Amino acid sequence: MLKSFWFWTLIVFIAMQFLSLNVPAKFPIKKDEELQASPEVMSILKRSCYDCHSSEVKAPWYYKVAPISWFTQLHVKNARAVVNFSKWNSYSKEKQYKVLDKLPKSLIIRMPMPVYLYMHKESVLTKEERKTLAKWARELKEKIK
Ligand code: HEC
Repeated sequence: MLKSFWFWTLIVFIAMQFLSLNVPAKFPIKKDEELQASPEVMSILKRSCYDCHSSEVKAPWYYKVAPISWFTQLHVKNARAVVNFSKWNSYSKEKQYKVLDKLPKSLIIRMPMPVYLYMHKESVLTKEERKTLAKWARELKEKIK
């Protein structure tokens, strides 16, 4: 019994849970650091981007279960390093400009990440929504130049 395949599978699974990246889904948000945009743009960002690029990630049950957690938490960590919209106003103009400059192109295939969309059909953007987001990014970029 002790040597059975499932026993050892279970042991390995439990051991994996101790190898955690510890990337919190939620951080305290400072109101004045949060991005401000029109309700339309905010609703698109919150639906499709905030699960990685914010301090208010809606973590599903598997967010903390290894080995899936290694991927989900690494995505959130790397995404926040690029831009965390919950901290937008704390960034320099240069950093904001760089993000806005890359944003329209990122919407073509890469963002939101296809592997994420596979699990989150509700975050798929329509062509119109991608246009709205790209337009917002271009206009804001011109403003802060
Ligand atoms: C599942 C997590 C996830 C979601 C959802 C997501 N991103 Fe990302 N994003 C990442 C990661 C990880 C990176 C950094 C690594 C990379 O570039 O692939 C990134 C990078 C970026 C970059 C920088 C691209 C570059 O060329 O350097 C931009 C801009 C961006 N994301 C915008 C968005 C926008 C806008 C949305 C929503 C429409 C979004 N992301 C949704 C994970 C995500």
